[in-house]
Amino acid sequence: MNVISRWETALTEQDHSALAELLRAAFVGFPDEFSGLRSWALARKEARLWLADGSGRPVAHLAVERRVVGVGGSESLIAGVGEVAVAPDLQGRGLGARLINELRARLSTEFAADFGFLQCGERVVGFYRRAGFTRASNAVRYLDMKDERTVRETNSPTMVMPGRRPVTEWPDGVVDLRGLPW
Ligand SMILES: CC(C)(COP(=O)(O)OP(=O)(O)OC[C@H]1O[C@@H](n2cnc3c(N)ncnc32)[C@H](O)[C@@H]1OP(=O)(O)O)[C@@H](O)C(=O)NCCC(=O)NCCS
Repeated sequence: MNVISRWETALTEQDHSALAELLRAAFVGFPDEFSGLRSWALARKEARLWLADGSGRPVAHLAVERRVVGVGGSESLIAGVGEVAVAPDLQGRGLGARLINELRARLSTEFAADFGFLQCGERVVGFYRRAGFTRASNAVRYLDMKDERTVRETNSPTMVMPGRRPVTEWPDGVVDLRGLPW
């Protein structure tokens, strides 16, 4: 497997097309999100990290965007993570764990941020825990995806990972994403 890390501005049409195909296959319930060359959902990302097989096909992928957010009374630079996906024919073979491992190594270097951050469904909390994320109990405030003037709040599973700061320093209080979620 080759590890590929690419800034959003360097993605080619071919990259978008191949990543969109992987995301359509992995997120079967959301066929419209990744139609054509669209290889992200919700907030636009800043960079991609993926594993490619010998033929160059992306088989595991995640996207990140860094943002200064409010957490309780303080501010943190977090790397929001989304579009985590492994090709269905290769799931359960450690590729997802390897991908998150590659992310962790970059959270204090290439994608330098205080913490990695993501929100997910209850059914994948176990996967992220095993891969090194810690579940946080903060409520999260964000802008509605369909009406960006409406602020919403959620208590859905929130996971954090150390970047330049240890998870023991992750603050309490509401996380205000000040924008769209990832
Ligand atoms: C979730 C996903 C990324 C996991 O990738 P994967 O390559 O299948 O996972 P891995 O093989 O690396 O599993 C790593 C570990 O997590 C465990 N694991 C995998 N999926 C799990 C789940 N849903 N719940 C709990 N544990 C899980 C594995 O058993 C393995 O444990 P081990 O270290 O004890 O062997 C992949 O299944 C996927 O793409 N699913 C569809 C898209 C999706 O739901 N993405 C997440 C959106 S938030």
